[in-house]
Amino acid sequence: TVLVVDFGAQYAQLIARRVREARVYSEIVPSTMPVAEMLAKRPKAIILSGGPSSVYAEGAPSLDRSLFEAGVPVFGMCYGFQLMATTLGGTVDNTGAREYGRTALTVSKPGSTLFEGTPTEQSVWMSHGDACSAAPEGFSVTASTDVVPVAAFENDEKRLYGVQYHPEVLHSTHGQQILEHFLYRGAGIKPEWTTTNVVDEQITLIREQVGDRRAICGLSGGVDSAVAAALVQKAIGDQLTCVYVDHGLMRKGETEQVEKDFVAATGVKLKVVDASERFLAALAGVSDPEQKRKIIGREFIRVFEQAQAEIVAEAPDDHPVEFLVQGTLYPDVVESGGGTGTANIKSHHNVGGLPEDLQFQLVEPLRKLFKDEVRMVGQELGLPEEIVQRQPFPGPGLGIRIVGEVTRERLDLLREADAIAREELTEAGLDREIWQCPVVLLADVRSVGVQGDGRTYGHPIVLRPVSSEDAMTADWSRLPYEVLAKISTRITNEVADVNRVVLDVTSKPPGTIEWE
Ligand code: XMP
Repeated sequence: TVLVVDFGAQYAQLIARRVREARVYSEIVPSTMPVAEMLAKRPKAIILSGGPSSVYAEGAPSLDRSLFEAGVPVFGMCYGFQLMATTLGGTVDNTGAREYGRTALTVSKPGSTLFEGTPTEQSVWMSHGDACSAAPEGFSVTASTDVVPVAAFENDEKRLYGVQYHPEVLHSTHGQQILEHFLYRGAGIKPEWTTTNVVDEQITLIREQVGDRRAICGLSGGVDSAVAAALVQKAIGDQLTCVYVDHGLMRKGETEQVEKDFVAATGVKLKVVDASERFLAALAGVSDPEQKRKIIGREFIRVFEQAQAEIVAEAPDDHPVEFLVQGTLYPDVVESGGGTGTANIKSHHNVGGLPEDLQFQLVEPLRKLFKDEVRMVGQELGLPEEIVQRQPFPGPGLGIRIVGEVTRERLDLLREADAIAREELTEAGLDREIWQCPVVLLADVRSVGVQGDGRTYGHPIVLRPVSSEDAMTADWSRLPYEVLAKISTRITNEVADVNRVVLDVTSKPPGTIEWE
């Protein structure tokens, strides 16, 4: 394991992902963890992340010197670099010399462990106020910028390395190479970690945990719950029952995909509950987005509990149903562990994810993985492309893509428009390029149009294609005009009551990805 010590501000997750991309297993730990505890994990290397503080600020996170004296290779980045410098006797000044964004780095020791084989001039991503003016004793300075005399240093003998910038971001042109140099050359780690190991390891663990008892899993049609279910199915076979609650808010073809393709690929025991009447009745007359989310969440749990009771009743003499399989991912784990009260922008309801007071023990085989790794596991388990490569779709489904009250007619209309948009985006080969493309019906808005020879008074449809790495931030996708034109023509021609298609050109922030 490589430990990534988190000094805040989301850099650690990106670093952990980059380490995994280098095929080395990594785990994030908070900077408040005592050094002895970190070392007890027997890490092969430790990376210190960047963070928002100044090393001189009151209450800024620090590290015990013993971390650098344990013989474990350490790589400090940005804040981690400065912390390494000050802890080991170097000098970091608050010079007022700030650097933000893309910066030119000059490598003064091209043959150094980190920089070997990379150009002497490279573009890196900086974000700092303080600057290191003198490296600690025993270290050699390996790079500088116009503003910072010591932008990188290393002590090869002690296997300690640091850079002032952020090698983990894509704007640092040789960042991945430098990280790999640290891992392979500096720390002597071999790139051996793969998702195949994860599958084997998890199957053993799941068997140990569940024994001969039974488990259930809520399927949402999304990647995470599908992969988690497939993995658990492989481990315990028919001891697992999957429950798919059809709330009637799914897109065209989605329920069939779960019912046919997923079952065909995995042989999983599936219980489908058609609860669309119930959801629609509960949503009648409701326009407020938060209200909708709460109702959908509540109804989902009720239906699920009922399904669970039925599973028990159908085979009461079988082993008890004690486990709930969840597709929790590593970012969720890290975020809930580091929970420093972020603002509740929307109450996300993860259909397939249930509250813990359901009285189950959780089986979470994906809790160490990032999304792209989950996709790889899914591929290895032989799940169909359409499921593995699926773009994110919110648990509350089309219910939060109708601005206004949710009715069956409106759902049908939106389903048609959405299917056309998806078809054309796939046809144009844009699926991988965009993160997702919500299609939204402005049911409370009417617009005048002319179709055939007559006046129409219909509704606009909004296209919201976005690109993103993690949905935390997003930009609107610059789709080719021809593709937009084709989608617009088809939707207005083929979907009754729609006489206008508009494009959302807002990034996140300030807009969120979904409209509600
Ligand atoms: P927002 O709209 O918050 O969306 O920018 C960020 C990502 O989350 C998805 N999303 C949800 N996913 N339950 C989910 O499982 C929800 O309630 C929910 N709301 C939004 C959204 O599609 C985007 O990928």
